[in-house]
Amino acid sequence: MVEKFKTNAEVIENGDKYLYGNHIRIPLSLESGKDAWVFDKDGNKYLDFIGGIAVNGLGHCHPRIQECLRERAETILHCSNYFYNEPAVQTAKLIVEHSCFDKVLFANSGAEANEGQIKLARKYAKDHGHPERFVVITMKNSFHGRTLATATATGQYGVHRYFEPLPDGFRYAEFNNLESVKALVDEYTCAILTEPVQGEGGVRPATKEFLQGLRELCDEKGILLMFDEVQVGSGRTGKLFAHQYYGVEPDTCSMAKALGSGVPIAAVCARGDAAKVLTPGTHGSTFAGGPLACALAMTTLDVMLNEGVLDNCMKVGEYFRKRAHEVIEKNHPDAVDEIRGLGLINGIQLKKENGQPVVDLCFKDSNVLINNTNGNVLRFIPPLIVNEEEVDIVIDAVDKAMTKLGW
Ligand SMILES: Cc1ncc(COP(=O)(O)O)c(C=O)c1O
Repeated sequence: MVEKFKTNAEVIENGDKYLYGNHIRIPLSLESGKDAWVFDKDGNKYLDFIGGIAVNGLGHCHPRIQECLRERAETILHCSNYFYNEPAVQTAKLIVEHSCFDKVLFANSGAEANEGQIKLARKYAKDHGHPERFVVITMKNSFHGRTLATATATGQYGVHRYFEPLPDGFRYAEFNNLESVKALVDEYTCAILTEPVQGEGGVRPATKEFLQGLRELCDEKGILLMFDEVQVGSGRTGKLFAHQYYGVEPDTCSMAKALGSGVPIAAVCARGDAAKVLTPGTHGSTFAGGPLACALAMTTLDVMLNEGVLDNCMKVGEYFRKRAHEVIEKNHPDAVDEIRGLGLINGIQLKKENGQPVVDLCFKDSNVLINNTNGNVLRFIPPLIVNEEEVDIVIDAVDKAMTKLGW
């Protein structure tokens, strides 16, 4: 038997010795969790407004997820895509019944789902008599993953650096600037890919006009409109898909993160002709759509859609922005550029270049976990089941940290 570490410090010390150093980690080893709260090995309690980077949509240890895991342990975990499994079918059915899509293709991570969208777009063009079309237009400041193709699709030099030569076939337009997208569309374009709300890029919602304009442009040119909802799909905005909030339907859309409540699963959802492109032998993965991950996704979606989670997300999200505005305007009016978000993805854009000191103080002084993205945007992506009292604790922690910093 592996002997367990006894303290938080022991986990961290061994982690630094044995884990590859590709992540900067908070010095905290999480041992357990309940709802929006997590506990370290020494028994300290933290309010979790990172939520596994938007993964723990139902919070930690949701009873329906526990029940689902118990049932899976006694039935079947994996069986390959040579066979059908009911959880995969039920999950796809739920997604189709609550969206504009006709088919669902499963994957294991957000990057992999986006890789699937990119392949789908290239084949779609070939299937429709345009073998010359292979370029996907994405947005500056976007984030689509870290495989070679999705890192290249990502419109950030920091994600490309060190990995040249990058795969060909990506051009970058300005987010929320339709003219800049139009200027890049040419005879080689097969698709436009965007997040409806840029997450890693600093919680930046698209405008409705931008997404509508992209839809019209794609229809006019006969190319695909693809959304990346890895972060903002699966209920994060208070709708199953963020694009439902905007009323703009893409041809394909990726989802991942909160879909499996912590077990890796992702999906490419497609409609119309785009739902017919990836034929046998063109795409797939050993683990994708397995019974364990899909049973968790099915349960997650069922709880989200039928147990008031989306309404809570919408209501508490509005409360968050109201409280944040009140406190910032009263106590730190010169420190903040903008407070923005949808549902329970919210950001506070600071005037200072780096938001990390606020994150560190929230952790050290208030046992509140938040993160900083795109340099100076405090990001709040808690479980969708949080309540207003928990929002108050977080806003108070940010207020206290900014006061201490003299901001
Ligand atoms: C919008 C978006 N797309 C893709 C990804 C990549 O997902 P994964 O880390 O599961 O590969 C992320 C991850 O943060 C994301 O936010």
